[in-house]
This record gives sequence, C-alpha cells and structure tokens, in this order.
Amino acid sequence: MGNILVTGGAGYVGSAVTELLASAGYAPIVLDRFSQGRRGAMEESIPMIEIDLNDTARLRRVFAQHPIDAVVHLAALAIVSESVAQPLRYFKENVGGLIHLLEAMQEANVRKIVFSSTAAVYGTPEQTPLTEISPTLPINPYGWTKLIGEQILSEVQKAYGLAYVSLRYFNAAGATERCGEVHNPETHLIPRVLDVAAGRRPQVEIFGTDYATPDGTCIRDYIHIEDLAEAHLLALESGADCSGVYNLGSGRGYSVREVVTCAEKITGRRIPCVEVPRRSGDPPVLVAGYERISAELGWRPHRGLEEIIASAWAWLERHPKGYAQ
Ligand code: UFG
Repeated sequence: MGNILVTGGAGYVGSAVTELLASAGYAPIVLDRFSQGRRGAMEESIPMIEIDLNDTARLRRVFAQHPIDAVVHLAALAIVSESVAQPLRYFKENVGGLIHLLEAMQEANVRKIVFSSTAAVYGTPEQTPLTEISPTLPINPYGWTKLIGEQILSEVQKAYGLAYVSLRYFNAAGATERCGEVHNPETHLIPRVLDVAAGRRPQVEIFGTDYATPDGTCIRDYIHIEDLAEAHLLALESGADCSGVYNLGSGRGYSVREVVTCAEKITGRRIPCVEVPRRSGDPPVLVAGYERISAELGWRPHRGLEEIIASAWAWLERHPKGYAQ
C-alpha cells in the first residue's frame, strides 16, 4: 500500500494529507487541476499531474502509467452558496468526477478509496452531537453531491468489493508547518477572523446573533487539519473489510463569538466585529462525536481550538502573501 493517488492533493486539505503521507513513507502522487490548489503548497519532489477528473481518457492513462495502490479522493467543488446558485455544475463536477475516478480505478483494479465527505450531509440536525446514524437530509446541492457520492461508494462496494472509507469532515481549520488555509474567495470563519487581526480586513461580520445558542451565534466543531490528515492515514491503513462512513468531529463546539475571543487572545490584537443578518443555510449547531472512528480506526483529535488558531496565525505570519504561485 505505498503509491497513493491524492486527487485535489494541492488544495487546503489535500496538501496537508499529502505532506503527512510523504512523511509517513508513502509515495503520494498529486492529481489536481490547480483551480484552488496551489503549486507552492507542495514539496517539489512530489509528482503532480494537472488534470480534470472529467477528462476520462487522461485519467485512465494516469492509472495505466502509474502503479497505484489506493486513492484519496478530495477533489471537489466545496462552496455551499455557489452550489445553490450552480447546482448542475456541482453535480457534474462532484458526482461525475467520482464516477469517472471509480471507473478508472475499476479498470486498473485499484481496490481502496478514502473519500472526503462533509457535515453538510446532515442538513439542519434536530439533535447534536451527531452520530453516523443521525438522519441525513442535505439542505444544499453541495451536501447532496457528497451524500450521493457516499451512496455510489456503498453500491460499488457491494457490487465489486471496493473498500471505501468516507470521512465526514466537520470544520477543518488550522495549519501544518507547511500548509495553510487559502481559498479564493475565502468564506471560512477562522481565516477571515485572522485576516482582521492581521489588518487585511476591517472587521469580522458575524452572520446571525439570534440563534438558539447560549450567545446567539452558530456553534461549530473545529478540527485541526493535522488531526484531519491523520484520519486519512488511518483510513488507508484500515483493512480491506473496513468500509463505511465516519464523522470527523471533536465532540466539542465553539460559537462564532468564542472563536473571535480565542483569536484575540492568541494574536494579542483586538478584532472588531459587526453583527449582520444570518447567512442562509447555516444550521445553528454542528457538532459530532468521534466514537465510531475511535473504536474502528483508532482516531481521536489531539489538538483543540487554541492550537488550531495558533497554528493558523503562525502560518499567516510566515506567509503574509499566501503561497508563492
Ligand atoms: N461565519 C461568520 N462570519 C464569517 C464567516 C463565517 O459569522 O465571516 C460563521 C458562519 O455563519 C458559521 C460559522 O461562522 O456559523 C462557520 O462558518 P464557515 O464558513 O467557516 O464554515 P461552515 O460551518 O459554514 O462550513 C462547514 C464546511 C462546509 C460544509 C458546512 C455545512 O466548511 O464544507 O460546514 O454546513 F458544507
């Protein structure tokens, strides 16, 4: 199990996963179309192939030319609001891309895949913390593309014996030594808050202060990107009979205001906020336990919110202009 194809390997999650795979002695091959993925995130020795998953002929050639033992599939469009505005694009890219990848894997007899899924499969939960048997009912096309992806994997597993592990990420955040969070546009809370601390934005907009939570702002379960990457390694190392879905949460949630307060403490800067109306489609609370992944794959989170924000801040200070392109 040495040669691992990482689709979306130059993106935020992908670069952290690739970095960890390489340091653990695997031979990752990055496949990315570099729309969000940054070349500067990758060590130069790691092979990178620029390709779109909808280019099925080239995709097949990649499998024909490289001996691949398993795939970590992270390439996807992942902006919720964009998915509402452009549902067909999201289904085509995320569901179509997965199907093309699975076809190429089947042809090359590659029998293991780790899939990046999301808390968005749960929609607006009635109860938290969520478990893997909580009802799934996405409230946007992005969430549907991932839930459909999981269903496809389950059917392919039953029909052809492909082993799959689907990791339902809660809020990935923070940085490794090398890889930080840079999206364009940046929609996520922690990088936006730190941009304010760094003087690159005037203030944080708090989207909604009238939720039924203790301080009225949304609560999320933040997972350090290194903990998240470690889950991929454990998923790859799980046996061929291990298939299924796993929440990647810490069991502990923080409100938007708590995140801002923590960031003020870590950075030593004042972070001005302005209260604005709710952002559509935001569930009040998204928190998950990690009992299943702990019991079956041996994963648990090691780093809390302070370490998440401290690592993101340290990265930002080292990379004031983001990645070199
Ligand atoms: N928020 C603000 N101001 C900002 C940015 C975010 O108040 O400038 C709030 C959001 O309203 C939300 C919380 O901070 O309550 C976290 O927002 P993020 O955009 O950082 O993350 P989300 O929880 O919206 O997104 C995550 C994953 C998505 C997934 C979604 C499911 O990143 O992939 O949960 O709801 F689809």
